[in-house]
Amino acid sequence: MIPNQWYAISRIQDVKKKPIGLKRLNKLLVLYRDTTGKLVCMDDKCPHKGVMLSRGQQHGDVIACPYHGFQFDQKGDCVHMPVLGKNGDVPKGMCVKTYKVKEEFGLIWFWYGDQLPENEYPEVPMFKQFKEYQGYYSFYGWDAPINYTRYVESVCEIYHIPFVHKGSAINIWDPKGGKVDNFECKVDGTLITSDFVLRPDDERTAEETLVARKPWTRGWKFGIDVQMPNLVLIRSDVFDVIFIPTPIDDNTCWVCVCYQEPKRDLLLPLIKPLPIPFWRPVRPWYMCRIERFVQQDKDMAVISYQNPKVSSPKANRLIPLDKVNAHYIRFREKLIREANEQKALKEKISTKPTGEFEAPSLEQIIGIEEIN
Ligand code: FES
Ligand SMILES: [Fe+2]
Repeated sequence: MIPNQWYAISRIQDVKKKPIGLKRLNKLLVLYRDTTGKLVCMDDKCPHKGVMLSRGQQHGDVIACPYHGFQFDQKGDCVHMPVLGKNGDVPKGMCVKTYKVKEEFGLIWFWYGDQLPENEYPEVPMFKQFKEYQGYYSFYGWDAPINYTRYVESVCEIYHIPFVHKGSAINIWDPKGGKVDNFECKVDGTLITSDFVLRPDDERTAEETLVARKPWTRGWKFGIDVQMPNLVLIRSDVFDVIFIPTPIDDNTCWVCVCYQEPKRDLLLPLIKPLPIPFWRPVRPWYMCRIERFVQQDKDMAVISYQNPKVSSPKANRLIPLDKVNAHYIRFREKLIREANEQKALKEKISTKPTGEFEAPSLEQIIGIEEIN
C-alpha cells in the first residue's frame, strides 16, 4: 500500500443511519454519521477489551460499545462509562484512534498516512473526465480475492479480453485475440494515459478497421488511464468505466466500479436505450452488475492464481505494450519509497512518540502496594 494517499473505501450511499464496520487497508474501521450528518471514522475496536464498536449502538453523536457500553465521541474520546456512574471520572487515554475521511464524487475517501494540517491534504484523486461528465453513472463495489496491485494491472490492459472474457462484445470478431495498433502512452504528474486501437489481425490499416461497417470486422479505439494510487479509467467509443481496487488486506481488495452511460449501442439489446426516460440511469446500473456477475468471475478464475500475488518490478516480464503497467509499478515503488523517506525524516526531527494510546500496565491497575 502506498502511504500518504486518499483511498476510496466505500460508496457514500452505503453509510446511512447505523454504524458500519469495514476492513480496508489492513485496518478494521467503523463508520457512522453524527447528528449533523458528518462522517466519523475510527478503529473498529473498543480500547477496553477489544470488541468491535460497529456491533454497538449509536446514541446521538457517540457510539457505544456493545460489551460494557463505554461511549466514544467523534474525536474517539471515551465520554461515559456506565459502570462508573453518571458523574464518574473517565480514565485518561481511554480513546479510539480516528481517521480523516472525505466524501466526494459519490465515494468515501480515507486518508492513509500521516495526519497533516487541514490545508495540506491533497485533493482526492479523480479523473478530469469524470469531473466533467454530465450524464448518469452508477457505482458498485464488491470484494475480490486478489491483491489490489494485480487488479490494477489487469485493467491496465485489455488485450486479455478475447481470452478471459470469451463472448464479450468487443471480442466477436476474433476469438484468437485482437491486435493492438497505434499505441501511445504519456505521463503527467502521477497520471498515466494511453490510447490505442484494438482490432482484428488482418491486412487493413488501423484506420480502415475503425470505419468498417460490419461490427465483426471493426477495430475499436480505446484509452486506458491510471491515476495513482489505484484508479483506472477505460475509455472507448462505447462506454467509459472506472475501476478502483482498494486494498482490504494483502490478499483481498474492494473493487469499486463506476459505469457511465454507454455512448452508443453495443449488440446487446438490453443496453440499447429505450425511448423511456427512466431507462437512462438504469443502463450504468445494469453495466455494473454485468461487470460484477458476469465478467468478474472470469477474471478471478485466471488472475487469482497469479504468482507472486503482489506485483513489483521483478514480478513480471512485460512487453512494450504493457507500458501503462510498467509506469504503474514504477510509480508505486517511487511513492512508497518517498513516503518512507518522509516518515524517517519526521521521526528524526520529532522526539515525541507518535501518540498511540498506551494501555496502563496491569501493575498500574492493581497498585504497586498490593503487588508487594
Ligand atoms: S469492551 Fe467495550 S466497553 Fe468493554
Ligand atoms: Fe478482465
